Amino acid sequence: MNNAQPIGVFDSGIGGMTVVRALMQHLPHENIVYFGDTARVPYGPKSPQVVREYALQDTDVLLQHDVKLIVIACNTVSAVALDIVQKRAKIPVVGVILPGADAAVLASKKKRIGVIGTLGTIFSNAYTNAIRQLNPAIKVFGQPCPLFVPLAEEGWTDHKATELIAKEYLFPLTLEKIDTLVLGCTHYPILRKVINKVLHNDVMLIDSGEATAVIVKNMLTELHLENTSIMKPNLQFFVSDVPHKFAEIGERFLGTTLGKVHRVEGFLS
Ligand code: DGL
Repeated sequence: MNNAQPIGVFDSGIGGMTVVRALMQHLPHENIVYFGDTARVPYGPKSPQVVREYALQDTDVLLQHDVKLIVIACNTVSAVALDIVQKRAKIPVVGVILPGADAAVLASKKKRIGVIGTLGTIFSNAYTNAIRQLNPAIKVFGQPCPLFVPLAEEGWTDHKATELIAKEYLFPLTLEKIDTLVLGCTHYPILRKVINKVLHNDVMLIDSGEATAVIVKNMLTELHLENTSIMKPNLQFFVSDVPHKFAEIGERFLGTTLGKVHRVEGFLS
């Protein structure tokens, strides 16, 4: 393995760019190859069987780029397919569930944690199981928020409609008196401001992507795999459909321009 090999990141679509942003902050010298399965997004409402199948195909795209480590940016995939991706890849693979769960357990004083995510992530109970394994005394309350995904992609971060929907989704969690909330979906960090507003800045928000970037940094150090070059890193973006739309929304998610986005053939929805 060579330290200059890129980190591979995959997601169901565009949302994983929030994880790329966190990786770039914590690991500014790493080369990154990203694959977003924009032809088949969203994964959130799909069955675990289908998501597992898709996850293997996404993994194969990254393996063709000779990546040294894979980050599964997608919470829905991390929730139901981490095991098979690890088996297929035969290189280190990091999902976002365990880092997010770990950070939430450390943050929660009242031992009452809320988790929001896609239908697939919440119904898998992956966060609940991971949190309860770390501390069985913690109470976990899950809430799917599927409409947050299109709202974040539309850029409706400061919109009345988003606030109303957030109130509707988050109200049951406030009744449970949570003190910590896991943003268990790639898109939700984009809506952080409105979520904070609805929760009256009273709940600690945990960004799983951010927590994952910290774990990846530690892992690369432990494995002596961090890129020692101080050259500007090479960032490459691949998608399975409509690259121009990815480039446009991706800029908003990443906070910087992406350059050319390439289309990978052979992914049918
Ligand atoms: N990337 C997905 C996740 O984090 C959200 C979008 C989708 O449903 O595919 O769960």
